[in-house]
Amino acid sequence: MDPDDLEELAGELQGKTIGGWGLVQLAAGAGFAAYVVWAAVLMPGFRRVPLRLQVPYVPSSAKQVENVMTLLKGRSGKMVDLGSGNGKIVLEAYKRGFSPAIGYELNPWLLRLSNYRAWRAGCYGKVFYQQQDLWKVNLCDCYNVSVFLAPSVLPQLEMKLLAELPDEARVVSGRFPLPTWMSTTIVGEGLNRTWAYDIKSVRQTGQNKPKGSSE
Ligand SMILES: C[S@@+](CC[C@H](N)C(=O)[O-])C[C@H]1O[C@@H](n2cnc3c(N)ncnc32)[C@H](O)[C@@H]1O
Repeated sequence: MDPDDLEELAGELQGKTIGGWGLVQLAAGAGFAAYVVWAAVLMPGFRRVPLRLQVPYVPSSAKQVENVMTLLKGRSGKMVDLGSGNGKIVLEAYKRGFSPAIGYELNPWLLRLSNYRAWRAGCYGKVFYQQQDLWKVNLCDCYNVSVFLAPSVLPQLEMKLLAELPDEARVVSGRFPLPTWMSTTIVGEGLNRTWAYDIKSVRQTGQNKPKGSSE
């Protein structure tokens, strides 16, 4: 449609009110557009993940990233971000000496963006972003784990972390606390609040054991 046609259409619409049916059509159009953005840009790659475990992309704020780093200070070794989004937590961890630093992410657009950011920072090929379902990654050699996921999936995540992580591991959770674990340290306020959990103490205090379990 060229600009003249658009002008003509605008002229015709001017002064006309949109009726009930027009409103329904507008709402349906907006809903469909939102669905297309959600399906094509925010959630591609999630077809094999059960709906109840799907978590949309919301990037950590700069303050949140800083809080994660504060809670990992003095530590070293392998660091992973489960659902790494735009990759900035992994990149920052690498810059602070964690190696390997790996982000697991299903969204191919976010993986491209992460690699681009790494390249711009001169770290391309030094930090790793892998297209992998976080629920299928084996965490038995991960000593530093960062998560920022939805509260609805955290009970299941607690079980996975407890079953796979080594005793020396620390888990840092942004924005939402792990529901049944007792944190070792908390930093930040409001949306930037971040919790740290040491697996050894979670195991020692028997948190998240099935009711009636004697182990
Ligand atoms: C709330 S965002 C957090 C992004 C990033 N960690 C940050 O702090 O900026 C959650 C991310 O997890 C990713 N994600 C959700 N479920 C996943 C899964 N099963 N496997 C891999 N990535 C997943 C989403 O695509 C999204 O980018």
